[in-house]
Parts: sequence; C-alpha cells; structure tokens
Amino acid sequence: MDYFSYRESAGGRQLFAEDVALSELAERFGTPCYVYSSAALVGRFDAFSRAVGDALLCYSVKANDNLAVIRCLGGAGAGADIVSGGELRRALAAGIAPAKIVFAGVGKTGDEMDDALDAGIARFNVESEDELQLLASLAAARGVRAPVALRVNPDIDAKTHDKISTGRAQDKFGIEFDRAGALYARGAGLDGIAMDGLAIHIGSQLTSLKPFADAFGRLGELCRNLRQNGQTVSQLDLGGGLGISYAGETPLDLHQYGALVQRTGRELEAALTLEPGRWMAGPAGLLLARVIRVKQNGNKQFVIVDMAMNDLLRPALYGAWHDIQAVMPRPGGAAPVDIVGPVCESGDVIAAERGMPELRAGDLIAVRDAGAYGAVMSSSYNSRPPAAEAMVHGTDAALIRPRLDYDTLLARDSVPDWLTGSH
Ligand code: LLP
Repeated sequence: MDYFSYRESAGGRQLFAEDVALSELAERFGTPCYVYSSAALVGRFDAFSRAVGDALLCYSVKANDNLAVIRCLGGAGAGADIVSGGELRRALAAGIAPAKIVFAGVGKTGDEMDDALDAGIARFNVESEDELQLLASLAAARGVRAPVALRVNPDIDAKTHDKISTGRAQDKFGIEFDRAGALYARGAGLDGIAMDGLAIHIGSQLTSLKPFADAFGRLGELCRNLRQNGQTVSQLDLGGGLGISYAGETPLDLHQYGALVQRTGRELEAALTLEPGRWMAGPAGLLLARVIRVKQNGNKQFVIVDMAMNDLLRPALYGAWHDIQAVMPRPGGAAPVDIVGPVCESGDVIAAERGMPELRAGDLIAVRDAGAYGAVMSSSYNSRPPAAEAMVHGTDAALIRPRLDYDTLLARDSVPDWLTGSH
C-alpha cells in the first residue's frame, strides 16, 4: 500500500501523505520539510516481522534517528541497533527497552561502553580484539559480564555501492573470518565477557538474495566449527541491508529474504536478531520542497528548489536516484530539467535531466524514499538550517523536529576574548 498518493482536493488534484494534503503541510511547517507516514512505518515493520518470523527486530537507528520515528517503530515492537552513545540515548529516550538494544560499530569508546553497560543493553557486537579487551576490563570492574557477539567479516561482496559495502576483506568492519574462532575462544575465557553469538552485516541496499545466502552460509560454517570446539553460540545477528526500489528496479523479494532468514535460524538452532534500517524507514518518508525559481542556461533548464545537498546528501554522495513528483502536477507533457539546490557546489544536483511536468516558482515537489539516510545525514553547510521534520497519522500531522532557526545555529559558536578585545 502506498501511503503517499494523489487525491482530489478542494485546490485540485494533489499528493497526500495519508489523509493530509502536502500543500497543507508546506503551509503549516514551511519547506524544506521531511514528511513521514506513521502508518507506513508501522505497516512496513509488521510486513517485515511477518516475513522473518521469530526474530528480534532491532531497527537500525542510523537510518532515521528522530525520536518520534523510533517511538513509532518501538510501539510496533522494534528494538534498536545503535552505533554510538548518542544513538543509545535516543533509543532509551524513545522508550526502547535496553533488553532490545544491540550496539555495533568499529569505534566504540570506553565511555560509550560504560553507558551501554549502565543501561544493561542486550548485546555488544564486537569488531576487534582491542575492543573485546577494553569491554572485558570495564565489565569486570563493575562485576558483570558483557553479552557479546563477534561481528565477523565474511569477505563477501554485497554487490552494492562501493561506499555502503561492509563485508569485503578490504572494508574496516568485522573480524577477519579466519581469526574469529580463536578470538571467540579467547573471549569465552575473559572474566567480563559472556560470549553468546556471532554477527554479520555485509552492506546496505542489497538487491539480490545471493550475497545474503553466501554470508549466512559462511556464518553457519563458523557457528558449527565453534560448537564442535565446545563453544556456545546461541545468538545470530544477521544484520540489515535489505534494499528498496528507488527507481522502479525490482526490489529483493521480502518473502524470499524472510524464508532464507527463517531457514538459517532453524538449521543453526539459534535465536535471531535482524537490523533493518532503510527497508523500514526509506519509503515511509519524503522530502517536501518548494521551487525558488526556474532558470534557463543555454538549452538547459534548472529548477532551483529550497532543499539542497545539506538536507539530502545521497544524490551528491552516491549518485543516488530518488523519484521526484510534482505535488500538484500541471497539465501538459514532461520535459527534462535539472533539479538543483542553492548550495554553492556544482554537485548540488538532486536530479539531472529528469522528465518533469512544467514547474514554476512557488510549486511544491516531493523527493520520494527519503525517510532513511535523509535527515540523519543533513548538515548546515552554507549556513543553511537543516530541513524540518513532520509526521502524519491519518488526518493528524505534527512537527517532530523544527527547522533550526538562525539564532540557534549561530548560538552554537562563541568568539574567544582575544578576538572581541574584551580581555
Ligand atoms: N547494521 C549495521 C551494522 C549497519 O552498519 C547498517 C548500515 C545497518 C545495520 C542498516 O542497514 P540497512 O538495513 O539500512 O541497509 N548512508 C547510506 C547507507 C549506510 C548504511 C550503513 N550501515 C545510504 O544513504 O545509502
């Protein structure tokens, strides 16, 4: 079901988010503004949950860390996959039970580990020997054992964008496959550690099943070896990575993925955790923006909008393609235009040579599938306050993160005395 669809309204045919017209949201909250559908978030969580069966679903907070989004998914039953002390705070503040929080990441600091130990999270996915030692000493000092899964690097190419591939030998993530067995045994002998499983995550936006099947197969191999050597492996964290359809490409079938996950759990007789981010949040959000002006240069038409690469970095960083819709399409054919932001970089192109109905100053556009890795990756480059965020729920809509105002933006800086001459 599409939670964003065109409907007839008093002002003509236009795009809605659930039962709220996007033009109304633009009036209320201004533009640029991310708009999330809570029904889409919950609907996607439920569909994923049904497909994978009995597994702990830890929503990957990095995809969208807004407290309202985390709470919405938490209410549907999600736990949280976190990668920093900040994400830990967000997950807890959004009401996620510590017993449903797993902590991944190559650079956990001692302070972050302390915070997570204080909170009593479900598991640390440990990615290096050094990290294991530090965690062991911090946990032992407080007389507890930290639950640990080793994140292994299965050396599998996820066949996704180079910058979001994480399971190849050259990537910084995980523990070298051939050393994982020895390290597992080492961990099991440490006072502050309770080794209880293995974890993998080979990349994001995967669109075929094969890399998942290969990676789960390698994980199974390691799991069996460890058990033969007398180790206990009760938890398997199969990571996230399930891709979505940005440009109408065939997405990896959720049910085939679910069947593979269930088979893996059954064959290895282990409790499963999954860490989906993009699949939950991506299609549940769009970025609403307004055309500032249209400019013709030679035979190129530039539609300059009030969102930019500081609000949605994916096109500039990965060459990512996002569908763009006119909120109230004008009649007539489509013509190719470049949709660009105001940032002073030639790379600030949201869509190049995109066929769009005529767009004029003041018109609204919606950049689709922006609910994951959109707002979280925004910055204030060019001193542009990052976009606001809103959530709809049926006919209700609420601002869930206001756009920063200039005073707040400037108040983060301070000028030393020696520059103001006041010392
Ligand atoms: N677990 C771990 C350990 C991860 O590193 C990630 C994503 C996930 C789970 C969630 O993966 P997902 O289900 O969302 O694919 N900024 C990039 C994506 C970076 C993904 C990083 N790790 C983008 O905009 O495409």
